[in-house]
Amino acid sequence: GQTADAPVAAMEHRDRALYGVQFHPEVVHTEHGRAVLQHFLYEAAGCRPTWTMVNIVEDQVARIRAQIGSKRAICGLSGGVDSAVAAALVQRAIGDRLTCVFVDHGLLRQGEAEQVEKDFVAATGASLKVVDAQERFLTALAGVTDPETKRKIIGREFIRVFEQAAREIVAEAGEGDEAVEFLVQGTLYPDVVESGGGNGTANIKSHHNVGGLPDDLQFTLVEPLRELFKDEVRRVGEELGLPAEMVWRHPFPGPGLAIRIVGEVTAERLEILRAADAIVREELTRAGLDRAIWQCPVVLLADVRSVGVQGDGRTYGHPIVLRPVTSEDARTADWARVPYDVLATISNRITNEVPDINRVTLDITSKPPGTIEWE
Ligand code: XMP
Repeated sequence: GQTADAPVAAMEHRDRALYGVQFHPEVVHTEHGRAVLQHFLYEAAGCRPTWTMVNIVEDQVARIRAQIGSKRAICGLSGGVDSAVAAALVQRAIGDRLTCVFVDHGLLRQGEAEQVEKDFVAATGASLKVVDAQERFLTALAGVTDPETKRKIIGREFIRVFEQAAREIVAEAGEGDEAVEFLVQGTLYPDVVESGGGNGTANIKSHHNVGGLPDDLQFTLVEPLRELFKDEVRRVGEELGLPAEMVWRHPFPGPGLAIRIVGEVTAERLEILRAADAIVREELTRAGLDRAIWQCPVVLLADVRSVGVQGDGRTYGHPIVLRPVTSEDARTADWARVPYDVLATISNRITNEVPDINRVTLDITSKPPGTIEWE
């Protein structure tokens, strides 16, 4: 097969068992890409499709039992799908020897902490420990603007909080010196790849739960979703009986709103961003767009100001960027064509209701060349 630019865009030589393509059959925008892969796997390589969600659950439960044995584990919950599914899997495997830890680092969206406390526990019956660490994270992030540094700091602080929580759990259980050895994380395959963990892949960014772990980590990691993509994780979640609102929640990055503030993270800026984010989610849901859209980061350009006019006065406020995207698995994405009237409502509400914001802009870049998040 050839294109105008590539003399050999696709080739096969059955006798010599040679097959190759010069494009990405695995990304959703490639027409017939799945057929190409299926043909290669079934016909050329002789593979059989035994990878089903039921098999994954059974297989992982067995593997987790083998890894953890009769010891204790903790699992950090973020409020997102990945950690919820990882926790539910491990709970099925080891029951009440798992304690979930929810770190309220102050970088969460409005209502998120309450939702985890209520919904997750109701759905799984897992035991949950909530740690208020807002001051700790804000202090550690003071003065920091570099995105990679933010991720590393957040990864480190998370672990320090987990270590403290693990000591308290052991003390409360009254089991003497037996420390919690295992930490469960909802790391997915794309996180592994983008953190440079795959074969021959570049380190695009350090996802806090992979690339950002401190070197002196005391825990052994349990990562039951490490080989899965998001759509598979959602199906595993459904298989495990998690509620639809939890399974279909928009992805939210572990470092939270910290990587949606371009500039230093402060309590005041978080407050502003939380308010704008809540309006966007409310209006997208009202318009029935929350399933069609993969996620919609709302980004605060904290170091940029522009002149505006509101009421009778001149303002000098910050711009907010809306980043609605459609995607299958976050590896590639397109900007979502949100109807103008929905955008108009969002813009009016944000400029009227959120202090210090006098401009709302829309990001119309696909991924690549952009990423979904800004930092
Ligand atoms: P990007 O910005 O790389 O995002 O196109 C791809 C997906 O990953 C999420 N994301 C993160 N998740 N820790 C996480 O747990 C991170 O540091 C992080 N950075 C990005 C992002 O929201 C999107 O779904």
